[in-house]
Amino acid sequence: MNVAKPILELVAITKQFGSFVALKGVDIEIAPGSVTCIVGPSGSGKSTLLRTINGLEEIDGGAVFFKGEMIGQTVRGQHRVPVSSKQARLQKLNFGMVFQTFNLFPNRTVMENVTLAPITVRGHSRKSARAAALQLLERVGLEHKKDRYPNELSGGQQQRVAIARALAMEPEILLFDEPTSALDPELVGEVLAVIKSLAEQGSTMLIVTHEMAFAQDVADEVVMMADGEVIERGSPKQVVHNSSHQRAREFFSSVVAS
Ligand SMILES: Nc1ncnc2c1ncn2[C@@H]1O[C@H](COP(=O)(O)OP(=O)(O)OP(=O)(O)O)[C@@H](O)[C@H]1O
Ligand SMILES: [Mg+2]
Repeated sequence: MNVAKPILELVAITKQFGSFVALKGVDIEIAPGSVTCIVGPSGSGKSTLLRTINGLEEIDGGAVFFKGEMIGQTVRGQHRVPVSSKQARLQKLNFGMVFQTFNLFPNRTVMENVTLAPITVRGHSRKSARAAALQLLERVGLEHKKDRYPNELSGGQQQRVAIARALAMEPEILLFDEPTSALDPELVGEVLAVIKSLAEQGSTMLIVTHEMAFAQDVADEVVMMADGEVIERGSPKQVVHNSSHQRAREFFSSVVAS
């Protein structure tokens, strides 16, 4: 287990939608180079939590620290205020997000999908962005599809392009929100294999998943959420097989076949 200083700390994160409290004070620390899988029943706040990390969702209380720096907000006098939009954009570059539904640009080729943000946001030259994209596409096994459009690819291939696109921005942390749950069962393995290879290469990743065998295989830590709270966290073995919480035991007995 990695004992380095956390690269990411979520401290007492709360989030409400109207009167509904979606996150009730969530604390999580992520060690650099570690893989954390977030699991739990539908509606427990997993996606909301991921979205608060990269600023897609504003938090109501608590704080997110990246390498010790509070992100999304800053202290002015006695108050916390949102950071400037420029600062927010810079902070978001630390995170790469991969969504359940891929979210590729349908009217752009694979190569364009992967190079667009590095060119327009990072200011890379077209030539260097294309060279980097080719390497990434090779890494996800799709260099031969570089001139295809998303609708010419399978779901698993589209998701692998989405992973290459996230990597092209060189984020410090990759956030995955159920990256395989929109895929036909026979396509799940190829996407999980790519994510596993990233784990082996030391990427820091936070992965919301229902794939328990995968979580047990790659996760350094499993975080179990229920009703907007973390109810258990620890090694996959401890959380999935030896949980002391009734709620966690019920959840895992419904999702783990073995
Ligand atoms: N924009 C929103 N407005 C109102 N309620 C929301 C909003 N987004 C999420 N919620 C509610 O917050 C709760 C947590 O939702 P969230 O999407 O984070 O759950 P989840 O754990 O990701 O579930 P799933 O496994 O189904 O994806 C749910 O009850 C959901 O209905
Ligand atoms: Mg979700």
